[in-house]
Amino acid sequence: MSNQHASAEQALGTAGIVKRDAGAAESRLANRIWWDADADDYHATHGDFLGAADFVWCPEGLREEDVRFLGEVAGQRVLEVGCGSAPCARWLQANHAEVTAFDISAGMLRHARRSNAETGIDVPLVQASADQLPFKDASFDAACSAFGAVPFVAEVHEVFYELARVLKPGARWVFAVNHPMRWIFPDDPGPLGLTVTQSYFDRTPYVEVDDEGRATYVEHHRTLGDYVRALTATGFVVEDLVEPEWPKGHTRTWGQWSPLRGKLFPGTAIFRTRLTS
Ligand SMILES: C[S@@+](CC[C@H](N)C(=O)[O-])C[C@H]1O[C@@H](n2cnc3c(N)ncnc32)[C@H](O)[C@@H]1O
Repeated sequence: MSNQHASAEQALGTAGIVKRDAGAAESRLANRIWWDADADDYHATHGDFLGAADFVWCPEGLREEDVRFLGEVAGQRVLEVGCGSAPCARWLQANHAEVTAFDISAGMLRHARRSNAETGIDVPLVQASADQLPFKDASFDAACSAFGAVPFVAEVHEVFYELARVLKPGARWVFAVNHPMRWIFPDDPGPLGLTVTQSYFDRTPYVEVDDEGRATYVEHHRTLGDYVRALTATGFVVEDLVEPEWPKGHTRTWGQWSPLRGKLFPGTAIFRTRLTS
């Protein structure tokens, strides 16, 4: 399989993978430079699947149009977390929500601006990190994220605290992440990705480094229980945990997501939560 991240790895001088701690500032910096460097390849590879004004929750292809996890969005103030090129935010705005979308990466936001211009759906875009939100208290009716930010921050509690602060009581917070059980397998869509190689309970981050040991990409693992505890500790109630099944006839591979693995175990976890009143 070709390495879809070769340009980013070359630009950042990625020299290897280590398992070691990575704190909040290091994780922020590594992921900002990573997504800046990978933004063009990410959109060349996945742009057609994501669309320009479409809300696809996950590689299994679940669409907000069909599932309505956010309920009625017309007239609601909605925050998109880790928006990338912001196709979800544009779908929300086309459905009459009042949307703000943010991302840590200027490279990803450059694609979002281009897509705003091409579609004529002009979503307000902000550069920010999910654990340090530049928004007023109680200013949104709902928040959502399709794989944005949450897997990349060191302290997920900080993200949930910030969301609890900027959301109104009773607001929905719905987010999709890699299903935590994927952590135990190598990131391989083929047969190699079916053999357990590490512990589900090992929270040591996955860190790619340059030849001086500087992090060039960081991903953090939480167990399902870790997520539930962080959410409830910050004022959210978990209403559902959706584990989308791989649809029949869906043949598209996305990184480690594939029909082979998808028919055996979940690849995505979607937490449907609500801020307590
Ligand atoms: C897998 S992409 C998902 C983007 C978009 N939701 C999509 O479906 O294409 C992850 C996104 O999270 C963003 N991100 C990573 N760390 C972040 C942070 N701390 N705060 C905000 N965004 C972050 C990245 O820049 C990237 O755009």
